Amino acid sequence: MCPFPATLHRMPQKHPDFPNLHVFVHPLIQQKLTQLRDNRTNTETFRRRLNEIAGLMTFQISREFPTAEIEVETPLEMTTSRVLSKPVTLVPILRAGIGMTDGILALVPEARVGHIGVYRDEVTLKPVAYYAKFPPDVAAGPVLLIDPMLATGGSASHAVNVLRERGCDDVRMICLVCAPEGVRKMLQEHPDVMVYTAALDRQLNDKGYIMPGLGDAGDRIFGTQ
Ligand code: PRP
Ligand code: URA
Repeated sequence: MCPFPATLHRMPQKHPDFPNLHVFVHPLIQQKLTQLRDNRTNTETFRRRLNEIAGLMTFQISREFPTAEIEVETPLEMTTSRVLSKPVTLVPILRAGIGMTDGILALVPEARVGHIGVYRDEVTLKPVAYYAKFPPDVAAGPVLLIDPMLATGGSASHAVNVLRERGCDDVRMICLVCAPEGVRKMLQEHPDVMVYTAALDRQLNDKGYIMPGLGDAGDRIFGTQ
């Protein structure tokens, strides 16, 4: 599953087979992912761990956000200091993306939040879009597209198309678990969108679920199973 040694790496690693994929092999992220995979983990713990992972990932992903120097007056004198120079927008894919959003907002409280509603048709596995709402200037800064599961890639690819229609050219995707099929689709259709994940799993099963995965993320976050 993971082509990297279990130690050594603190930073996300570019996957050797997928130039669009960064895998976080940090021990704390992997420890929490294991709890999320565990069938015995209850809804409350699932939500908490998912948000914790999202925050840990965001700390790394946001290294590339643009900054600018401004003047600020401390209690003692004027100085210069850095701030985020472009507005950051989080775009969770409903429903399951909501399960990571609070963890990201804890680190980037000034971020705006847009939403994209998409669900997979259970038979065709094709994305069905039902909602989209963004800040009018969503394209003015980095966009973090959020969905814990990248399976066929249909939902994520649709979401990026919607963002592109609004002019967004700086889009990153934050996931938890990916299937090779979904990463490949994103590479073909949106090669400039870097996908950050805690795991690249083996494959999809015949119902489109990621194997070994963690089941239906939305159901586990919201207790609807
Ligand atoms: C899940 C998940 C992704 C999508 C991934 O949502 O949260 O959005 O499936 O599958 P894909 O890569 O094959 O498109 P789901 O369709 O179950 O909707 P829900 O979050 O409303 O339950
Ligand atoms: N959506 C999920 O929630 N889980 C999967 O394994 C695939 C799609």
